[in-house]
Amino acid sequence: MPNVNEETLVEQGAIPPTEFHDKIERIREIAQYDIDSPQDLTARLEKATQGLLISPETLRSAAAALRVGHVVLQGPPGTGKSSLARALCEAFHVSTFPVTAHEDWTVFDVIGRLELRLHADRKEEIVPVNGYFTESVVRCANAIVRHFDDPAEPQAEWLLIDELNRAHMDRAFGELFTVLGTDAALPITLPHQRDGNRNLVIPRRFRIIATLNSFDRQFVNNLSQAIRRRFTFITVDIPDKRPMGATWSNTANPAPLAVQEYRTVVERVASRVAKRLTSLDTSRTQQETSDILVKLKGPLAALVGQLFDLIERVRYSGPDQRVPHLPIGTAQIIDTLELLLLRMSQDNVALEGAGDILDWAVSVKIVPLFDTDVVAPEVLKEFASTLSAPFDKATRRALLGIVAAGMHFVE
Ligand SMILES: Nc1ncnc2c1ncn2[C@@H]1O[C@H](COP(=O)(O)OP(=O)(O)OP(=O)(O)O)[C@@H](O)[C@H]1O
Ligand SMILES: [Mg+2]
Repeated sequence: MPNVNEETLVEQGAIPPTEFHDKIERIREIAQYDIDSPQDLTARLEKATQGLLISPETLRSAAAALRVGHVVLQGPPGTGKSSLARALCEAFHVSTFPVTAHEDWTVFDVIGRLELRLHADRKEEIVPVNGYFTESVVRCANAIVRHFDDPAEPQAEWLLIDELNRAHMDRAFGELFTVLGTDAALPITLPHQRDGNRNLVIPRRFRIIATLNSFDRQFVNNLSQAIRRRFTFITVDIPDKRPMGATWSNTANPAPLAVQEYRTVVERVASRVAKRLTSLDTSRTQQETSDILVKLKGPLAALVGQLFDLIERVRYSGPDQRVPHLPIGTAQIIDTLELLLLRMSQDNVALEGAGDILDWAVSVKIVPLFDTDVVAPEVLKEFASTLSAPFDKATRRALLGIVAAGMHFVE
């Protein structure tokens, strides 16, 4: 039964409404509440990023940046940017409104538009439809009020924009960014909403976390200073190079980040492959996970180490070295090993054949990341000739294929 007293209080403006979609202008009443940084933020961050290898420095920078404003997580493909964005929201106890940017985005997609609806009785109606940004701000306001009533509820809802580099910023965001981030409670005018429901004040507790593929330097260069000023750019990079003398499978604790990555990858691969192999009988998943772990840490450990050696050569090669430089992400290593194990299981490959399968997996998962646009063909060619077993067959062939194709285009 509706609470009449509460409804009256809401109408009188004594307490904020719990649903702002038709009362957009009243978001102003709750706009001044800033983020409630959880007391145990560090512990919450640790828990939310379990199984993710992100350097503690990156984690702390991102958390600090979020306390003051909007954040862009940038870095090479597959370093865990999207996963980190979700984990940060969990740590700050906020729900998320995830969207993926698209090159066709315009302000109609982002701010809002009018749409024609045809009802069953053939009557037509023009209805306002909020764009992603507007909708997420309204939902954020709803979440803030729900949290007032029940602190167990998330304290806000944040907009996650994946692959921001796909959007044409000016076309998609228009003048939005001139308002965003100004401290005064300056409203944004929503052209698609009716009078009285049109002036949107952004709650101070609202945040945007965007991810950006940093290979797309051109995109970053094209961002206007206005937009750059309103975001803090945090780089989610590959881990630092393994120190001399540290072996992949050593058990030192705490281990260097690169070695921690090795461990994280092995655990992830085991659990992912086991889930796939036991999808019809999940009671076997746990056993399968530990069986795969035993293999990865035992008979397959040397091969896994060779894969990491290869990745390391490429990741950290300097400009003067005759090895192509590419910051290959953790995700691509996981994918490659997953492919190795699934193919071995599918084709009943014995351990002696594992090297060939790994070679194949690298040739289809890692080699395609090389591109003669970013790597000089002669460097790729020389690199291909230096590869030793097991990467001297399919991987070498695939690299030379890229060289040949690149030369063909140059002609
Ligand atoms: N640093 C990491 N530690 C553990 N797992 C990772 C890491 N980076 C990526 N992964 C795994 O790889 C997959 C893809 O990660 P995610 O989408 O977060 O990366 P991304 O940087 O956003 O990639 P992209 O640039 O392709 O968008 C996820 O399943 C994730 O668990
Ligand atoms: Mg991503």
